[in-house]
Amino acid sequence: MSDLFDLTGSSALVVGAGGDLGRRAALVLGARGATIYAADHATASADLNRTTSELAEVGVSVTPLLCDVTDEESVTAAVADASVEHGLDVVVNAAGVMVRKPVGETTLAEWRHVLDVNLTGTWLLNRAAAVPMSEQAHGCIVNISSVYAERVGPVPESAYYASKAGVANLTRSMASELGRLGVRVNCLALGVFYPTNMTAPLKDDPGTLAWFEDRTLLKRLGDPARDLDGPLLLLASEASSYMTGQVIYVDGGWSAW
Ligand SMILES: NC(=O)c1ccc[n+]([C@@H]2O[C@H](COP(=O)([O-])OP(=O)(O)OC[C@H]3O[C@@H](n4cnc5c(N)ncnc54)[C@H](O)[C@@H]3O)[C@@H](O)[C@H]2O)c1
Repeated sequence: MSDLFDLTGSSALVVGAGGDLGRRAALVLGARGATIYAADHATASADLNRTTSELAEVGVSVTPLLCDVTDEESVTAAVADASVEHGLDVVVNAAGVMVRKPVGETTLAEWRHVLDVNLTGTWLLNRAAAVPMSEQAHGCIVNISSVYAERVGPVPESAYYASKAGVANLTRSMASELGRLGVRVNCLALGVFYPTNMTAPLKDDPGTLAWFEDRTLLKRLGDPARDLDGPLLLLASEASSYMTGQVIYVDGGWSAW
């Protein structure tokens, strides 16, 4: 039987690749043979350089791209750059931001920024990726939502919760439009992966970290260097050729109870 997880010869665009989960996603796909286009916005250039170096060091073919997911032209350009040589087989959207504040202290500008990056950014990237993927009648998009797609946690972050619920249903919506064109769209709904740039501030809040750990059935947090790998490879490869419109929880069992 052929290796269903083999990505040799495919092209993958990973946005948010300067971040910890994006970097891991790029590495995992690259290690399976994909040519990687690693993208992040200009503010994160140093982090993106780190990703590019780490991938190149282990022999992955990688091209860095600047892409601000809140900017329509920037997203269109990144997708065009990633697809111009060999088409585009996989897109992973790991760009995201979070504002941890009670609703009364959250400004409208903060709300809009979180929705802009997490939800509108996902829509822009999915819409742009659909163009080359539907032309080639093949491709898969992996969006990143959260266990908060359907629930909230102990920390106040209203915009983040709303945005991640939106990403889950946007995934279903994109899948329903693109399936007949040969494009699959799925979503990973992650529990707390620690530490990443986004979750590192929780080190100052051991009580909340302990709450997160205890809330899972496995009684541990997600390991960014291990627990994303298998589910991502599944959704990004032919191993999931009959899966689309799915929100897959990778949360240590949090959502099971
Ligand atoms: N870490 C977790 O526990 C966890 C849990 C559930 C979901 N997620 C999601 O996983 C994704 C990655 O999170 P992470 O933990 O690696 O965080 P991270 O902060 O390390 O990475 C986020 C990346 O998004 C990039 N980004 C922010 N604004 C952008 C923009 N406008 N355009 C392009 N890129 C932009 C950042 O530069 C950064 O590289 C996010 O969508 C996050 O919401 C993370």
